[in-house]
Amino acid sequence: MIAVGCDHGGYELKLAVLKFLDEKGIEYKDFGTYSSESVDYPVYAEKVARAVVSGEYEKGLLFCGTGIGISIAANKIKGVRAACCSDKFSVEMTRLHNNANILCLGGRVVTPEQGIELVDIFLSTQFSGDERHQRRIDLVTALENK
Ligand code: RB5
Repeated sequence: MIAVGCDHGGYELKLAVLKFLDEKGIEYKDFGTYSSESVDYPVYAEKVARAVVSGEYEKGLLFCGTGIGISIAANKIKGVRAACCSDKFSVEMTRLHNNANILCLGGRVVTPEQGIELVDIFLSTQFSGDERHQRRIDLVTALENK
């Protein structure tokens, strides 16, 4: 199950991605926003971030204008590893090396077609499990308590 959220800047991209998830039969919950009316992205970042760290949702997808604000907000929640990406290599690497659990995309940065391709890579790439990458992730996690 995937947790999905956006602000107004990412709303249209989210709709395109939800259509893709529907076509693929991938289950998700849409935490809003539900229109292109202006809203505050931290609200939706928190909803999706908390859903993911609760363990109820395996991954999250967040969309804003750039993907940046919503990723900064999501990364404030302990246990979140949110990656703001706009290219295929970075998305693949953030799963393989960072075990990112939330992908953040910019609706004003990538086209719907590009966004769908990035989501597809994110959802289908497994963490490498390599010891060195796990060690680094553990060091990142330790920063949350310093
Ligand atoms: C909203 O205009 C815009 O600032 C927001 O979607 C996002 O790009 C912030 O990082």
